[in-house]
Formats: sequence, C-alpha cells, structure tokens
Amino acid sequence: MWSLLVLLQILLVKETAFGIKLTEVRVPKHTIKDHSVRLECHYEMEGEALYAVKWYKDGHEFYRYVPRDSPPVQIFPREGINVDVQNSTNDQVVLDPIELASTGKYRCEVSAEAPSFQTVSDHGEMTVVVLPDEDPHISGGKPRYQLGDAVRVNCTSGRSKPAVHLTWYINSEPAEPGLVRQYEPVVSGKDKLETSILGLEFRVKPKHFKRGDMKLKCLATISTVYWKSNEESVEGDKPQKAPMLESRKAVAANTRADRVQ
Ligand SMILES: *[C@@H]1O[C@H](CO)[C@@H](O)[C@H](O)[C@H]1NC(C)=O
Ligand SMILES: *[C@@H]1O[C@H](CO)[C@@H](O)[C@H](O)[C@H]1NC(C)=O
Repeated sequence: MWSLLVLLQILLVKETAFGIKLTEVRVPKHTIKDHSVRLECHYEMEGEALYAVKWYKDGHEFYRYVPRDSPPVQIFPREGINVDVQNSTNDQVVLDPIELASTGKYRCEVSAEAPSFQTVSDHGEMTVVVLPDEDPHISGGKPRYQLGDAVRVNCTSGRSKPAVHLTWYINSEPAEPGLVRQYEPVVSGKDKLETSILGLEFRVKPKHFKRGDMKLKCLATISTVYWKSNEESVEGDKPQKAPMLESRKAVAANTRADRVQ
C-alpha cells in the first residue's frame, strides 16, 4: 500500500514538474480540394525550452521547426503535401493547395531540450472533399400526373468525393424508406469521383397534395461542407379537380441552391 502511494506520488510529481502541455492540435475534419488549410498545434512549455515541433502525415515527417536552427524550418517532400512556408510557424502549418492525396492522419509532436527531452503529441484525421461539379437534378418526372399514377423519379448528384448523400422529401417530410430506391454510386474518371443516384417511387394519393400542391425535393449533402437541394413542384389545376395535375420542371423560382461551407 505504502509503495503504491509512493508510486502515485512520483507519477503526480512527474506530471507537474516536467510539463510541456499540448493544449490543442487542430486539424479540420473536412477540407476542400484546391483550397488551403491551416493545421494548428498549440502548447505551453511550462519552463522547458523548446527543441522542436514536428508534423507527420500518416507517420512520415513533413515539417520540422527547430528554433536553434537557421533557418528554423525544414520541409520533407511528401505526396499531397504543399507547405506554404511563408505562413508556417512554430504553432501552425499552412498547406496550399490541398490535393486529394492530402487526406490522412496528421500528428503534431512537440519536444523539449535536454535534460528532459520530454515529448508530447496528438493527431487529427483530415479528409479532402471534391465538391460536386453540378447541382443535384431530378429526372423522370412526367408533365402531368393523375391520382393513382405512378411517380418514378431519380435524383442524380454531380461528381464528387466522397459520394454525395441524397435524401428525398415529399412536401417537406422525409420520404418513407419504402418509397426510396437505393442505387450504387457510379465511379468515373481518373480521380474516381462518384455520382450518387437515389430513386423515389410511389402512387399519387390525395394525401400527397397539400392545398392542391405536391412538392418533391431532393437534398444533397457531404458532411457539413456541402448542402444543396432541388425541388419540383406538382400542382392540381383547382382543388376540386384534383385528378388533373401538372408538373413544373424546377426553375429558378422553385430551385433552392444554397452552398454552405
Ligand atoms: C499567407 O500569407 C499571405 C501573405 O504573405 C496572406 O495573403 C495569406 O492570406 C496567408 N494565407 C493563410 C492561409 O494564412
Ligand atoms: C434511375 O436510375 C437507375 C440507375 O441508373 C435506373 O436503373 C432507373 O431506370 C432510373 N429510373 C428512372 C425513373 O429514371
């Protein structure tokens, strides 16, 4: 028991007496191809002298900052790594531009001078996103629908990486899973970009019309970096004559296109 207490005490002393503290390693989860990104590594030396700050991608060192060296910054070439040296310091590295091969695990390691040689490190994963080259579009809609008609439409995204996630809405409500048809994304081109397709199939019933109006919306998202939707509105001539319905192709007025990043 007594020896355990001593051991605990030694551990506690070690924690407090030698103390480089890594306060934050900030690696964005998603970045956009051809943009730049700032990787941050914040630390407190707590009385120690800094020997080096090193950055690794997937276990390979690509950036080293040693304040005693002249110049202090050293770069090691790696696939997918383009360091903006002007903007890179002891506590941040700017990569510009980001490539698909920049996807990976980034580790920042801070070490102290002799005698402690204490080393602390932490990491974050970054995924490079290629935004879709086109907005999602809705196809297969007929110009006119009557009650009892089969609606069979597809929503197709632009090419992207990773694949866009598509969701169907009928009158602003998510479509029931039983009405949705899943298809495998289509992979194309040198960069193996992906096209997502999601089908929607159902028979037109009175409940699908809100005040004689039916709205079909397809929402396309990639994590939090991409968010776009396309909407088609199907209308009845007059509420009493519900059977005759008309489909309007999405035009500027009823196409909502918001890009969030
Ligand atoms: C890098 O530095 C230049 C000026 O040297 C500045 O215009 C640019 O915004 C900086 N980029 C980043 C990502 O900090
Ligand atoms: C939707 O796309 C799938 C996959 O390409 C295709 O097999 C199907 O026929 C399409 N449906 C419509 C209504 O266009």
